Amino acid sequence: MIRRAGRALVLLAVLAGALNADEIPPGERLSGYDMMGAEAQAMQRDDFANPAMLAVKEGEALWHAVPGEGRPSCAGCHGDAAASMKGVAARYPARDVPSGRLFDLPGRIQACQNGRQGIAPQPRESTGLLALEAYLALQSRGMPLASPRARGLDDAVQRGEGLYRQRFGQLDLSCAQCHSQNWGRSLAGTRIPQAHPTGYPLFRMEWQAVGSLQRRFRNCMTGIRAEPFPPGAPEWIDLEIYLKERAAGMRVDAPAVRP
Ligand code: HEC
Ligand code: HEC
Repeated sequence: MIRRAGRALVLLAVLAGALNADEIPPGERLSGYDMMGAEAQAMQRDDFANPAMLAVKEGEALWHAVPGEGRPSCAGCHGDAAASMKGVAARYPARDVPSGRLFDLPGRIQACQNGRQGIAPQPRESTGLLALEAYLALQSRGMPLASPRARGLDDAVQRGEGLYRQRFGQLDLSCAQCHSQNWGRSLAGTRIPQAHPTGYPLFRMEWQAVGSLQRRFRNCMTGIRAEPFPPGAPEWIDLEIYLKERAAGMRVDAPAVRP
């Protein structure tokens, strides 16, 4: 009996080892920036050429805008974003203590629009919400991504890893099969990146627009003919938390540019 239990444990340990055997060692992690061509890199480095900087400008204006008579602006409560929002994007998603809910950055902004400004929150993927998110992300540029695990989000990291390794869609593929096991290979003319979320929101040439991390996730899901989760779904937030754990210590380079 004890022996059988022991054997089961050994087997589990072996399986767990095999599951994580594809984890990319910290020294071999490459961001999407590292893996793209020189032209796109130059566009990202130059704030005057990076189209996402227009969203940052718009976000700055929204930060100061009064949303209606008697209603406070973001700046009215938070003051100078360069001080109050420095490092915030580098440690999101985070747990909201009173409600216990996990918020990604756009979800957090929506909660302030709703609860603190008393207005209808801007929908996900709207230019306004993306602009505010880009403006806040810029305040963390160059800072290392915080480890969600170190901030007590182990449960979400675990759920996110489960999703990362789950096979989806008609092609029956997992995120890990592409991004951990086959990164660097070419897929229909595109190099598969390691999927580190250092640069979101970002300007993607294929979209000809600024888009969120969840939009990127959706693209990967439809690419494998899977039904994406709805916008803002807890599964997306768990996935983001796992990817942030995997990328912990890498530098924020938002708002980035991608092909
Ligand atoms: C069939 C392979 C494949 C699968 C499966 C896949 N992706 Fe991707 N993913 C790609 C490719 C290719 C790109 C880059 C596309 C481009 O740049 O045009 C990408 C891009 C990304 C990026 C952007 C990285 C950056 O630097 O901006 C993230 C994040 C990402 N995928 C996450 C995921 C997640 C999460 C899943 C699972 C739900 C997933 N992917 C499933 C192929 C895949
Ligand atoms: C009436 C005051 C008020 C206004 C207006 C307001 N907020 Fe907040 N915000 C707060 C408070 C208080 C918190 C702390 C969390 C909580 O209890 O909601 C917070 C938290 C945040 C956080 C998380 C910071 C962290 O360290 O985790 C972000 C990001 C944020 N607000 C963005 C915004 C944006 C963007 C706007 C404008 C669209 C805005 N807020 C408008 C009061 C406000």
